[in-house]
Amino acid sequence: MIVLGIETSCDETAAAVVCSAGVGSRIRSNLVRAQAPEHAPYGGVVPEIAARAHLDNLDNVILRALAQAGVKLADIDGIAAAAGPGLIGGLIVGAMTAKGLAWGAGKPFVAVNHLEAHALTARLTHDVDFPYLVLLVSGGHCQLLVCEGVGRYTRLGTTLDDAAGEAFDKAAKLIGLGYPGGPAIEQAAGEGNALRFALPRPLKGRSGCDFSFSGLKTAVRHICVERGRLGPRDRADLAASVELAICEALVDRTANAIASFRRHHPEGKSLVAVGGVAANRRLRQRLAGLAETAGLRFIAPPPALCTDNGAMIAWTGIERLRIGLCDGLDASLRPRWPLDADAASRPGAGVKG
Ligand code: KG4
Ligand code: ZN
Repeated sequence: MIVLGIETSCDETAAAVVCSAGVGSRIRSNLVRAQAPEHAPYGGVVPEIAARAHLDNLDNVILRALAQAGVKLADIDGIAAAAGPGLIGGLIVGAMTAKGLAWGAGKPFVAVNHLEAHALTARLTHDVDFPYLVLLVSGGHCQLLVCEGVGRYTRLGTTLDDAAGEAFDKAAKLIGLGYPGGPAIEQAAGEGNALRFALPRPLKGRSGCDFSFSGLKTAVRHICVERGRLGPRDRADLAASVELAICEALVDRTANAIASFRRHHPEGKSLVAVGGVAANRRLRQRLAGLAETAGLRFIAPPPALCTDNGAMIAWTGIERLRIGLCDGLDASLRPRWPLDADAASRPGAGVKG
């Protein structure tokens, strides 16, 4: 099976061709046209600019993805596009393009949940069976989920306010490190002393698997206001302190989730980290240590497959098509689309997805 995947839910215009061959030889092409330069002057993603940039670039990205894979639309088995959660303008551009191509080529269309695509990336890159525990940490989402099968998720925890990536982005903006904040903080932190600034580890030591990052952001703001101009040393030390605080908060909540996962799914063997923040090396090291202590296998896709990409959308298309699932051309687009419809409502970013 071979599927074209299209991702336009936020600020990456991406398309990929993925097949159902063995692990390691599935991705035939994977193109990402990042919009960071367009959004950088505003310190975050501007939805209207994102939608227009998707419109300008998507056709070309799709054509190059097909050409690099050496396939024509007639050769593929389906067309998958992110249909939510995300920014509606971008979702419309990507999903309407996919629907048009599917109709024109007479191929099935798959409306993909962007969060499910992150969660299933582990099965694109590794041989991993259900159930597994997922830490999904990105710019818009911060959740702990048990992935029991395609379309079957139980949410153990979510953020009460900001997502982890949002915390990185907002802290970077306060420190003056630019956008996107996660990679900028990781780079600056490399030369910094993570113990210089005592920042809070929100909810650490409490029961449950929810997250909170707004207190951390406020603490960083106080430090920046108190000190006025930050020198390069201050910036590096503060970046390292922020990175450590976010990693420790994530690891603490994940430890609670592992305890619950073990109780309810003793057959489960893996802890998976996905989403843009899972590209962070310090976080990957900490989670690998946690998994080892718990006797779980730790899986994190390569960084380029943690951040938004078309391959994860195409792969989710394959996972759904091969169990007989596809969508009509009237499938709706959903700015909010929780993976676990039964999970309790929360005020924070988790509700977005
Ligand atoms: O998954 P993603 O590409 O888009 C969303 O679905 O949100 O995640 C983007 C987020 C941004 O907040 C970015 O700052 C963060 O992931 N991020 C990182 C790193 N790379 C990207 N955070 C920490 N360390 C990184 N290396
Ligand atoms: Zn994402």
